[in-house]
Amino acid sequence: MTRLPPRAPGNQPTMGPDTTERSNPTGAAAVLVASNRGPVSFGTADDGTLTLRRGGGGLVSGLSAIADPDAVWVCAALSDADRRAAREAPDGRLDRAGHDVGGQAVRMLDIDPETFARAYNGVANSTLWFVHHLLWNTPTAPAFDAAFRTEWEAYTAYNAAFAEALAAEAAPGAAVLVQDYHLSLVPALLRAARPDLRIGHFSHTPWAPPEYLRLLPDDISEAVLTGVLGADRAGFLTRRWALAFADCCERFLGATVDREALTVTHAGRTTALGVHGLGADADFLRERAHRPDVDERLATLREAVGERRTVVRVDRTELSKNIVRGFLAYRHLLRTRPEWRDQVVHIAFAYPSRTDLAEYRAYTDQVRALAAEIVAEFGTPDWTPLILHVDDDFPRSLAAYRMADVALVNPIRDGMNLVAKEVPVVSDRGCALVLSREAGAHAELGEDALSVNPYDVVATADALHAGLTMPAGERADRTKRLAAAATALPPQRWFLDQLNALR
Ligand code: G6P
Repeated sequence: MTRLPPRAPGNQPTMGPDTTERSNPTGAAAVLVASNRGPVSFGTADDGTLTLRRGGGGLVSGLSAIADPDAVWVCAALSDADRRAAREAPDGRLDRAGHDVGGQAVRMLDIDPETFARAYNGVANSTLWFVHHLLWNTPTAPAFDAAFRTEWEAYTAYNAAFAEALAAEAAPGAAVLVQDYHLSLVPALLRAARPDLRIGHFSHTPWAPPEYLRLLPDDISEAVLTGVLGADRAGFLTRRWALAFADCCERFLGATVDREALTVTHAGRTTALGVHGLGADADFLRERAHRPDVDERLATLREAVGERRTVVRVDRTELSKNIVRGFLAYRHLLRTRPEWRDQVVHIAFAYPSRTDLAEYRAYTDQVRALAAEIVAEFGTPDWTPLILHVDDDFPRSLAAYRMADVALVNPIRDGMNLVAKEVPVVSDRGCALVLSREAGAHAELGEDALSVNPYDVVATADALHAGLTMPAGERADRTKRLAAAATALPPQRWFLDQLNALR
């Protein structure tokens, strides 16, 4: 494992969102963000040169609120092209290698592919993601064998590489915002190396309840919990996930929990828990959803659907999104309420995700097969009851949002679910939202949504029917309130709130 550099000397810098002067004597960063997936990714063109793609999402727009030109984003290289870009840049600093990273300073870590794959696929996505989303089929999984121990070593090394890079880039007293379950060990590792820093960790997932977290080997759950507790503040998307984390700390570490103040005290240190419900970016969405490329796709979809009603869902092809039960509910609707035949089209966009994992490939096959069954059972020469696309097309997703009569968001469990928040914002004519009570978004949108138990297929079909028959006036009123709640904490404020609370 890599040794961390000693604490950097120097005075406390001024820092914060409005810090534009370079008051930092070491020239290092006063604000840092760390996440597995960074704001850019690379590909290789036919002539062998690197091509760059900028990503979107809450973190990217959140970080743009920081006026500090020295803020640094540390991320992992995810592909061979990324690794090449990281290797060719001085200290992995893409901004110093002439790449257009949107004026941001980005340090991309060239972690060897085997270590990365074990950490990302083996531990982060097959173990921690599964535990927090309650995804295991427990008669056969998980089985924590010798191979898992090798993966865990890789996860530790990968977390150490992040801690080392952050320690090297951070100015004295800097604020570091560490993101998600990929990096749960980083706060404690970084604190050991740089006790001067203000460290935040943010979970974009739910947190497992103690009865489920205890499926992990004892030393692993302890490492994850104490890893996050290395932070001064641990942030969550809802109070429910924050309390689940506190419950686990109490049960497995014997920590002292104050559920009113939301603090966890363990081994002489107190970590504050924060709740920051990331909202949709209304300005961006409304502008983006009315560009010509979206209008074009809207026209194509409208042609396919005609005057029929639409039930829309947009997800990653992700186990926790519950796409299969959503299709079963739609099939139940068509079977039991024949009046909807030829009157509705289910538009389902499920873009590929984590295809290195066999479970995800099998799940995608299952989604495709069930969609085909439904089309075969009900389809006519004039009516395709379900349109499934398993590829990524953001403008097409926005077009579907705009024309949705009902949006179906029925995850088994979800940290937040931004689709539930985005649809009401861009909906053209108002849209009924069928929403799982296990999505974090339910805490804010539950009142104006049609709530469902994601396992209850019949109840979900009933909710689809209720959504499809909701009077236009009620639908418009609810959509207005949903959009207001959905945009209460836009990404930039979400980010600044955390930063200010950390300081
Ligand atoms: C979730 C996680 C993110 C992750 C995203 C996409 O939203 O909380 O950390 O980036 O899924 O998953 P991927 O594995 O493609 O990065």
